[in-house]
Amino acid sequence: MSNNRAATTQQSFPMKGGDGPHSYVNNSHLQREATDACRTMIEEAIAQKLDVKCFSSNPFRLADLGCSVGPNTFISMQHIVEAVERKYLEQGLKSQIPEFQVFFNDHVANDFNTLFASLPTERRYFACGVPGSFHGRLFPESSIHFMFSSHAIHWLSKVPEELLDKNSPAWNRGRIHYTSAPDEVSHAYAAQFDHDMEIFLSARAKELVVGGIIVLTMAALPNGIPASRIPSGVMFDLLGASLMDMTKAGLINEAQVDSFNLPVYAPSQEQMTDLVKRNGCFTIERMELVYRASKLVAPITGKECGMHLRAGMEGMIAKHFGSGIIDELFDTFSKKSVEFSHQLESSTREGAQLFAALRRK
Ligand SMILES: C[S@@+](CC[C@H](N)C(=O)[O-])C[C@H]1O[C@@H](n2cnc3c(N)ncnc32)[C@H](O)[C@@H]1O
Repeated sequence: MSNNRAATTQQSFPMKGGDGPHSYVNNSHLQREATDACRTMIEEAIAQKLDVKCFSSNPFRLADLGCSVGPNTFISMQHIVEAVERKYLEQGLKSQIPEFQVFFNDHVANDFNTLFASLPTERRYFACGVPGSFHGRLFPESSIHFMFSSHAIHWLSKVPEELLDKNSPAWNRGRIHYTSAPDEVSHAYAAQFDHDMEIFLSARAKELVVGGIIVLTMAALPNGIPASRIPSGVMFDLLGASLMDMTKAGLINEAQVDSFNLPVYAPSQEQMTDLVKRNGCFTIERMELVYRASKLVAPITGKECGMHLRAGMEGMIAKHFGSGIIDELFDTFSKKSVEFSHQLESSTREGAQLFAALRRK
């Protein structure tokens, strides 16, 4: 249980709740499009790698880690339930199709009210909420058959401490991320991600049944591309520049910017492969980069970018700088993203998400 305690007390900055114009509910179609791009791969992982014959228990339990407030999680869970049902049918196990139980996990501060108020009425599963950090244990041992997490595990459990230490070469003065920063800063972020992923994978290894599968999607860094050229990198650089403009205008002070860093990290495929191998509890059934451009999705516009970033980051920024700066900050950001729209567009072509299907040994 000591791990459980850690899982519920970590600092968290959930997506903007409710259903207002700046909410995640209304500003999460980019994540939805990205998950849609992996739909066939999720179906294939279930059809080819999930051995339902070896699962004796009913119900079939699945979990979405970092589900936020919907609607994306509902679409994914329905899709996974249908794929598992098809698997039972294909195996000639029609009479053994189980009931389904879905665990919706996110930080305790997530807007679970909005999530549960919008649960689809036609769903084919029983729904439960599981509050707490996935950087710790969330479920009893060997209790879950399939886990899913989309665009969530790039959130670190905390900002690496050396970024705030004026005597450290990793002190991140005048920046809010590792994009366009010295190597020491990137290394500190990478080390934090390594640490978090080991905890994440070890917890999931305990919770998944043998043969159970976890599918992960997240922003990733393709080989040979600097972090400043992927979509999140361009956005974070523009957000950092917008904050620095506000310091020049005297609206915030520089020390506030120096002490603010975004706790998010996009790994390379090699880094994720190494982490899974080092953990040793999973076989990598499939891991590859999925390019947004190859799915013929329209490039991201500056306005979309501002709205999505605000839905995800407003809470964290308001906590550090005060809520009074939010409108002005995102106005400045939107203007900058129009000015730098060519960079945003090319980042959409170069950036990719990582798809991973791991099987519990
Ligand atoms: C960008 S949203 C993605 C939501 C949804 N999976 C989707 O694809 O639209 C990331 C979510 O991960 C959650 N999250 C981040 N770190 C987490 C943690 N350690 N434990 C649980 N949830 C976490 C955030 O609170 C947020 O709701």
